Amino acid sequence: GVVREYWWEIVNTTAAPDGIERIILSVNGSVPGPTIIADWGDTVVVHVTNKLENNGTGIHFHGIRQNYTNQNDGVPSVTQCPIAPGESYTYTWKATQYGSSWYHSHYYVQAWDGVAGGIQINGPATADYDEDLGVLFLSDWMHETADQEVILAELHGPPTLNGGLINGTNQYNDTTTGTVTGTRFETTFVTGTRYRIRLVSGAADSHFRFSIDNHTLEVISADFVPIVPYVTDYVDISMGQRYDVIVTANNTVDNYWMRATIVQACSENDSPDNVLGIVRYNSTSTADPTSTAWSDALAVGITCADEDVSKLVPYVAIDAAEDPTNTTDFTVALYQSGGIGLWEMGAKSFVNQWDYPSLMQIAQGNNTWGISQNVYAYPEANKWAYMVIQTSNQQPHPMHMHGHDFFILGQADGTFDAATADLTYTNPPRRDVVMLPGDGYVVIAFYTDNPGVWLMHCHIAWHTTEGLAIQILERESEIPALIDSSTINTTCASWDNYASEDD
Ligand code: C2O
Repeated sequence: GVVREYWWEIVNTTAAPDGIERIILSVNGSVPGPTIIADWGDTVVVHVTNKLENNGTGIHFHGIRQNYTNQNDGVPSVTQCPIAPGESYTYTWKATQYGSSWYHSHYYVQAWDGVAGGIQINGPATADYDEDLGVLFLSDWMHETADQEVILAELHGPPTLNGGLINGTNQYNDTTTGTVTGTRFETTFVTGTRYRIRLVSGAADSHFRFSIDNHTLEVISADFVPIVPYVTDYVDISMGQRYDVIVTANNTVDNYWMRATIVQACSENDSPDNVLGIVRYNSTSTADPTSTAWSDALAVGITCADEDVSKLVPYVAIDAAEDPTNTTDFTVALYQSGGIGLWEMGAKSFVNQWDYPSLMQIAQGNNTWGISQNVYAYPEANKWAYMVIQTSNQQPHPMHMHGHDFFILGQADGTFDAATADLTYTNPPRRDVVMLPGDGYVVIAFYTDNPGVWLMHCHIAWHTTEGLAIQILERESEIPALIDSSTINTTCASWDNYASEDD
């Protein structure tokens, strides 16, 4: 492989992706930021300079395994100090997987003010196609900055988003004034061509059901894991998830709607059916499509669903061991503290420690784990570890683990019962974000093949800050040797206050 090098500046600017101008935080001024494009086996080097005035930052490469490179995982308070204003940090990692993903700031909710973008890693595909259209970045959007919304949320519950964007653009329909602003995403199809579309959800708190009227989707990967292809009218994409799909241009009428319908049961969004793009067979047409949605593709009122895990059969089969002796049970629950809703996972709520990240603590042998960090230790190498994550709250959570593609052994409604649960050990789905169903559970397994401190958390934007996270401390004794010693002898600058850029 070769080295792919990027130079980024995290900047505070203004933009109007849906025609409504607001402050954004971004990589190099655009929403989404530049797509990282590499080939399987390449080394990716990203130099990040923080040009913000009041905020730290840190860039996480979502789903990238970071084998033996934990210090490049980009999580302030866990793997590094926040990058202070004016400072830089260089991330280096190897593309050991291929497929589609995204990067995003992992500092408070900065990702959803715009510090996010696509990752495309070229490699083999499990079905043929003619043209790769690259990452189609699906996001939700709001007209206040996310930090203002979080402050409001602490007072009033989760904020409500104002629709969404496809590759950073969309129309917004102000229902109080009847004014429509902004521009829809458009792409042109040539009849007979097979297109690969890399669906990536960078949403804050919206669950998408993606479809293209009159076109089926052939799904070839889930997150970074190639799967045996299946054909469907639509895919359900939760926050942080990805699906690569192949679409055959087998129609002839001029225009069709591309829909990222927001499933209201697992979203906080007041504009569920207006995240639309246009597929044109006639590139000179400027008319809106008149096509109708597949039945169910528009079902905004449906129950929240992960894409059916029984369909996500990994192309390269790996079995999980059937000996869950190393099992931890985690209960996810909401509680009130001082009038603010907080989450806990296991018996505790996660609290960020921006000024003394976990990796620094390990490197300095000054380990003050535990009180607030919600740490679970997996000391032994190459062992299966199992987690039962249960919630009795009705809200579903897209659970994401860093440093691993985990195995989904079971996912169901109700209360887990080891005696009756239907668990799959033979080539179960592997991915890095799974939906924990409301009032339900997931059982996952991972193999301890990657020393480091890996965050596991709900990918709803506000939930990590609200405590819904644990740290997986994997093979602690091997971690100090992995860390660049020139970077450990510091305590973080005091960029531990969440200051609004527009204050
Ligand atoms: Cu998209 Cu902690 O990750």
